Amino acid sequence: MDSLDAYATRKLADIEGRGLLRHLVTTHRGPGGAATQGGRRLISFCCNDYLNLSQNREVIASAQAAAAEYGAGAGGSRLVTGNYPLLAELEDRLARLKGTEAACVFGSGYLANIGIIPCFAGPDDVIFIDELAHACLFAGARMSRAATHVFRHNDMDHLQALLDRQRNRHRHALVITDGVFSMDGDLAPLDIMGPLARAHDAWLLTDDAHGIGVVGRDGRGSSFAFGSEKADVPLQMGTLSKAVGSYGGYLCASEPVIALVRNRARSLVFTTAPPPASIGAALAALDIIERDAELRQAPLAKARLFTDFLGLPDPQSPIVPIIVGAPDRAVEASRKLRDQGFLVNAIRPPSVPEGTARLRVTFMANHGDEDVLRLARAVKALGLSGACVP
Ligand SMILES: Cc1ncc(COP(=O)(O)O)c(C=O)c1O
Repeated sequence: MDSLDAYATRKLADIEGRGLLRHLVTTHRGPGGAATQGGRRLISFCCNDYLNLSQNREVIASAQAAAAEYGAGAGGSRLVTGNYPLLAELEDRLARLKGTEAACVFGSGYLANIGIIPCFAGPDDVIFIDELAHACLFAGARMSRAATHVFRHNDMDHLQALLDRQRNRHRHALVITDGVFSMDGDLAPLDIMGPLARAHDAWLLTDDAHGIGVVGRDGRGSSFAFGSEKADVPLQMGTLSKAVGSYGGYLCASEPVIALVRNRARSLVFTTAPPPASIGAALAALDIIERDAELRQAPLAKARLFTDFLGLPDPQSPIVPIIVGAPDRAVEASRKLRDQGFLVNAIRPPSVPEGTARLRVTFMANHGDEDVLRLARAVKALGLSGACVP
């Protein structure tokens, strides 16, 4: 064995020893949460396709039409020849939905975050970031080389203390958070965070990957979840890969901010534009999200059916965590649910903090109520519901 293979083998043995080894499993998804793995038909409660729009006929037809018109691939970076007309159309739609002057579409949410953050923070600047923010926000913060302070999850007193102490030592400041936390399902208190950041001349960036389509007024996301006013969030980032059912990322912001991003975000400038089919799909999905209030509300209603049955706190999004603790306990719980026909993945470190391995249960609009209740009964029978810390 050469030194490279020996290195990989040693690392894998270490990962396995800590109960953290992961495998790719080929999955065929279908309607009603159906997911077939290894010939076994399961009901998935771990997809982010909250509105089932990835499987929607109108969305698929729009993807096919876009590919037929503009090709299977974009053929270049957006700044060279890859800027086919659907991209501007989608950016107008996203800006309107999020109440901003402009928007910029990226290849994915991950690419968006690692591109946006270094545009607004550099080595002379400071970033304040929630400890449970998504991995790609931390990656963007690291790439910016700004001083970074991590505040306790949703703890506005801690954020305020850090801002008071650190803000003035630096040139520019960013405050970064998920709008809807991907592994916990709770919302950031943007009604408090917006004014707090502004009072310290810090720019607030929210990642609304899990908000668009399912949270806030008219499914406009977490900035619209606090009364009738839009929260004061100058940088609203998100992805097209969850409730929108497609693939791609975006930033909604003012004209000058978007113009700067188009010039400077390296993950926009130095990468090929997303394929036309993804953008065509997203446009049709946004049509459906805008017109179908019942659909938008369905995932949260399913989550509530589940939490009510188990006596858990009211959900704020379609994501409900069931904290189990040790990784092997989470894997064992997932396996037992699988034996009963439910696909609920175990989420382990480093996706979540040490000691908080969990089942992350997500709800989709077309889950059957009876399936939701069957899952709730199965979770109760595992004796796990007492361990929930949503
Ligand atoms: C909160 C959050 N931000 C960003 C991303 C990355 O988005 P994408 O899948 O479009 O790269 C994800 C998940 O994938 C996420 O959960």
